[in-house]
Amino acid sequence: MKTVSLMDISPFLIFLFAYGCSASCSVGCLNGQCDKTTQYCSCRDGNYDLKCSSRCGAGCLNDQCNKTTGFCTCRGGYYGPRCSSKCSVGCLNDQCDENGYCTCRDGYYNYMCSSKCSVGCLNDQCDKYGSCTCREGYYYSSCYKCGAGCLNGQCNLHTGYCICIDGYYNTRCSSKCGDGCLNNQCDQSTGVCTCKDGYYGTSCSSKCSVGCLNDECDKTTGYCTCRDGFYNTICSSSCFPGCKACSNSKYNCSTCTPGYWSTPKMPCRHTCNSNCASCITENNCTECKAGFYGPDCRHKCSLGCLNKACDQISGLCHCVSGYSGALCKERCPSSCNVCITPENCTQCVSGFYGKTCKTPCSLGCTSSECDIITGRCDSCREEYTESVSPTLTIVSTVSNVIAVLVVLMIGAVVLLQIRRSKMQTNIEDPNVPMRARDHGDLETATQQMELYEDLRHDDGNGENNRHYANINNINNPTYQG
Ligand SMILES: *[C@@H]1O[C@H](CO)[C@@H](O)[C@H](O)[C@H]1NC(C)=O
Ligand SMILES: *[C@@H]1O[C@H](CO)[C@@H](O)[C@H](O)[C@H]1NC(C)=O
Ligand SMILES: *[C@@H]1O[C@H](CO)[C@@H](O)[C@H](O)[C@H]1NC(C)=O
Ligand SMILES: *[C@@H]1O[C@H](CO)[C@@H](O)[C@H](O)[C@H]1NC(C)=O
Repeated sequence: MKTVSLMDISPFLIFLFAYGCSASCSVGCLNGQCDKTTQYCSCRDGNYDLKCSSRCGAGCLNDQCNKTTGFCTCRGGYYGPRCSSKCSVGCLNDQCDENGYCTCRDGYYNYMCSSKCSVGCLNDQCDKYGSCTCREGYYYSSCYKCGAGCLNGQCNLHTGYCICIDGYYNTRCSSKCGDGCLNNQCDQSTGVCTCKDGYYGTSCSSKCSVGCLNDECDKTTGYCTCRDGFYNTICSSSCFPGCKACSNSKYNCSTCTPGYWSTPKMPCRHTCNSNCASCITENNCTECKAGFYGPDCRHKCSLGCLNKACDQISGLCHCVSGYSGALCKERCPSSCNVCITPENCTQCVSGFYGKTCKTPCSLGCTSSECDIITGRCDSCREEYTESVSPTLTIVSTVSNVIAVLVVLMIGAVVLLQIRRSKMQTNIEDPNVPMRARDHGDLETATQQMELYEDLRHDDGNGENNRHYANINNINNPTYQG
């Protein structure tokens, strides 16, 4: 014998438990009271059935119905034993009998007046079968609309026949001429027309295939010459993507699309490597995609190439500013705009000069720019004097040394002369001691020697330069103070 476990009946127990707990008297119970076991009760108005849980129909007069059956007397506009159905919108004065039948107001028909007369009915009136007299633009007993192509929208009231405007045909002008009819005109009874370019067929409703060259085809047959990638008589089938031209079948290629290559058995079925625009075999490229070079187009044109484009074989290119070398791979120094080699700049960033554009123009220049080779600037600020290039400085330093030596020699000669004349004076003026005179002369000579030493050691020390430049018009390469 089969035993029933607690598990098997537990859902049932839970149901009973839940139901027992939640059960209460229906809202329809008079005073909210009901039999504790059956929930049966006496109903308040507007409710019916044993537990008073059903509402009287919406159409019950005064919201009252038989508390057992729910039946009631209907108020206007409703019908049915419980008055839960509304009379149709087409019922005159919203009134209908217990079956819903009524007298129709204008524009409706059938026993319940639930159907609308055709929009084509004159004065919106029709008989109980929907038949009517048509107003203009409609025809037949049910007043269908005249054809879309009827002149002035009018047709024979009975047959619907009419005169067509351009673009329509057949007796009721309800069919459109083909899209391809020249001037949108076609034979009024057959629809046959002359095709404009790009269409074919007797009614010109067919477009030439997408594969037709120039979108043109024979206006009768649709046959055409195929453009690249299509085949068959009307060029409606596509070749395999690798085929530029094929015949009979997708794969019978005679010419390949660039980027594909052939083996005898599988023409145009293989792709070139991704950098090849066209190739003989995968990596034997006949043309590289823009930006690549080499026999297999494996190399990328240098970043320094103008438009990132280069010679497909050699990789040579024109450089953008800041790069140099045949392949434009070498970067010019940071302040050099254009260079032949990184050591040979031909255009510096404003404010620099020299072969590598590393030397800043003098602070003494009025504008930030100076000559790329000499560093010479157009004009100096007030507190600065003219400055010359290092090469010229060497020349001028040598000449200055010579000049200084000459000056010294001349000075020495002059001193000797003065000394001689002073010795004569001293003889005439015995109050001046001999040593003092000697010392004074000696001091002048020492100062001159010191000045000479300064000049020799001066190679770019701005303070010194500026100091002495004003005295001796000495040229120095740079201002750094
Ligand atoms: C309600 O309907 C029942 C069954 O037709 C009938 O016996 C009863 O008299 C009706 N009650 C009233 C109040 O009309
Ligand atoms: C491929 O096309 C050519 C040229 O139209 C034709 O002669 C040849 O028979 C075709 N081959 C196949 C396999 O269809
Ligand atoms: C590339 O193809 C050409 C023509 O078939 C051939 O002469 C050449 O040797 C090929 N180059 C390489 C690298 O295979
Ligand atoms: C720099 O390039 C110019 C122009 O090609 C050339 O005449 C000059 O000799 C080069 N100078 C150096 C130092 O390479």
